[in-house]
Amino acid sequence: DKTQQDAEKLAAAQAAVKFVKDGDVVGLGTGSTTTFAIIELGKLVKTGLQIKAAASSIRTEELAKSLGIEILDLGRLSQIDISIDGADEFTASLDLIKGGGGALFREKIIASLSKNAIIITDASKKVKELGAFTVPVEVVPLAYQYVFDQITKLSGKGILRTVESQTFITDNGNVIIDADFGLIDDPAKLASDLNQINGLLAHGLFVNMTSKVIMSDGADIIIFE
Ligand code: A5P
Repeated sequence: DKTQQDAEKLAAAQAAVKFVKDGDVVGLGTGSTTTFAIIELGKLVKTGLQIKAAASSIRTEELAKSLGIEILDLGRLSQIDISIDGADEFTASLDLIKGGGGALFREKIIASLSKNAIIITDASKKVKELGAFTVPVEVVPLAYQYVFDQITKLSGKGILRTVESQTFITDNGNVIIDADFGLIDDPAKLASDLNQINGLLAHGLFVNMTSKVIMSDGADIIIFE
């Protein structure tokens, strides 16, 4: 249930912030799990930890600032020491689906810049094969139908993401297609096929981008690396 899951998210977050050191530039993800980590970092900053951060979304930036964490301009960074983010699904081989919260593009830039990209999750996110969770795809609006049709050609069933029957708009002013590819045998192949589509800004398959996944199952912390 939710209380149990929140306890797992908090435990994973507390394990992850132990990897953050004085002087680090820290990439902050987005979502309910990452929120626990940002709150923990805020406490550490109050007691003297010296960090600067880059935020993967407007809501993360606002939360971090409210806790006294200094935020840098992501577009000016050439490296991030450590990032902490959540995931919608992960496998033991460290492939992920992200973007349930719609922040996948900036999250991917942060992961790409990170020397140490840490993912934190509760036990429900671990899967044998990715794909029960649909793959979020961020699309520049004027390429919407083109990208939708290309996803269909890759045997994906796309749905335009809406919230309360309004089209969901990302922090970057784009739309999201949630694409169901069924279970994904070869995430690297699908990621590279999606990368070829013009007008597709980013997709939620994170392959070879993660240093470790820190998962709590309530009793133990399990590290996949
Ligand atoms: C945000 O765009 C996502 O990538 C999140 O990291 C992911 O959806 C996990 O969110 P929760 O921590 O809320 O499950």
